[in-house]
Amino acid sequence: MSDNFLKRDTFSSKFGVIAAAAGSAVGLGNIWRFPLVTTQNGGGAFLLLYVGFILFIGIPVMLSEFSIGRRAQSNAFGSFKKLAPGTPWYMVGFLGIITAFVILAFYSTVAGWTLEYLIQAVTGTLFQSENMEQNFADFSSHPYRPVLWQLVFMVLTAVVVFAGIKKGIEKITKILMPILVVLIIFVVVRSVTLDGAKEGVKYLFVPDWSAVNFKTVLMALGQAAFSLSIGMGTLITYGSYIRKRNNLLKTSTQVALADTSIAILSSLMVVPAIFAFSTGSIGDISPGPGLVFEVLPNVFKSMPGGVIFSIIFFFLLCVAALTSTISVLEVVVAYMKEELKLSRGKATLVASVSISVIGVFATLSFGVLGNFTILGQTIFGLLNYASANIMLTFGALLIVIFVGWSLGKSNFMDEISNKGIIISSFHKTVFFIIRYIAPIAIGIIAVAALFIEGLTG
Ligand code: PFF
Repeated sequence: MSDNFLKRDTFSSKFGVIAAAAGSAVGLGNIWRFPLVTTQNGGGAFLLLYVGFILFIGIPVMLSEFSIGRRAQSNAFGSFKKLAPGTPWYMVGFLGIITAFVILAFYSTVAGWTLEYLIQAVTGTLFQSENMEQNFADFSSHPYRPVLWQLVFMVLTAVVVFAGIKKGIEKITKILMPILVVLIIFVVVRSVTLDGAKEGVKYLFVPDWSAVNFKTVLMALGQAAFSLSIGMGTLITYGSYIRKRNNLLKTSTQVALADTSIAILSSLMVVPAIFAFSTGSIGDISPGPGLVFEVLPNVFKSMPGGVIFSIIFFFLLCVAALTSTISVLEVVVAYMKEELKLSRGKATLVASVSISVIGVFATLSFGVLGNFTILGQTIFGLLNYASANIMLTFGALLIVIFVGWSLGKSNFMDEISNKGIIISSFHKTVFFIIRYIAPIAIGIIAVAALFIEGLTG
């Protein structure tokens, strides 16, 4: 009998749920993007805004997604079909599946780079390079090396997803997430105890309100959504594997706390070290690969014990990326398994091969396809912009409108209270936010994202 007809796989423990969902949330967005956007947008001021959005928008949206998935016991597409039969709401699920394709296609490019840099760090070739900018340019434009690493990363992702929820995703994230936290703390201690690090810490945390404008506010919200993995059905899919007795509000809060703590720790890992060793200003680093693949390798090269720290850093970057990529692939695999009735094995194969095909074009846009642009963007740029800036924000908007106005208060309350067992004074407040506040706030960013380039990517 095909496994489609067997009981659905579930996470086996509370810690398993947190590890998997936090694994999805903690990724390249935390380690690569967060330190840069924070320091370039008002430091402590940006941080305050960001934390505000995590609390008042991020947690309610995450809770909405978990509730949809767990109530429907289905993938992102099937969940809407089950909860709102005969309506076009399933389109939101479909948008999520497409977004997963697009995100994984460009995310796996960068994930592949992290593998190359890990190997360069381990073999010592990284520090032999005289010029880190040239080293990155040579590698990223190479006709096949970055493609090979991308495919290796996709195979790693597929192996975990193929193994299933309990035996694959839960097992691996339960091992990797604690390792990730320990390694980050280890590097943070090194970074903040360097001579000259204090200036970096100050730069990071002291609020500069003059840097805050409408765009900064929108960026903080966009970064919060990307970082929490909300808006595309990842957490609907994971929610469908959460057992009925788990407390969804508590889980959402814990995942958001873990994600935010790691984003802040990542900044403490990166920014003080740059202040201690780098000659240029952090404000001049362009968004994109510069920070992680050019500036930091230079920092490690000048740092005592830099070899060890560079190995640890690129290893933890690989780990963070992997626990995120598996969550995105699972969105597509769960859909193909349940809606197209493929076995998990076939679904994993079809999903990862088709995503890799698009992904290869994204990777080659740093080399042979560098001059090929659509709407003025390379393929990588376009996939990044379209998914993170537009698709995720519209996805999040539609998800809260669905819960607030279609699923409705009594169904939502029934789900988050575990049929009336959990009583919390926060439940009503959260529903109010989902129904009124979140749609307005996300609506503004979704519309603005169409017009302001580089907002959330
Ligand atoms: N949250 C991940 C990060 O911060 O890197 C990226 C991501 C993963 C976005 C999964 C969306 C998603 F569904």
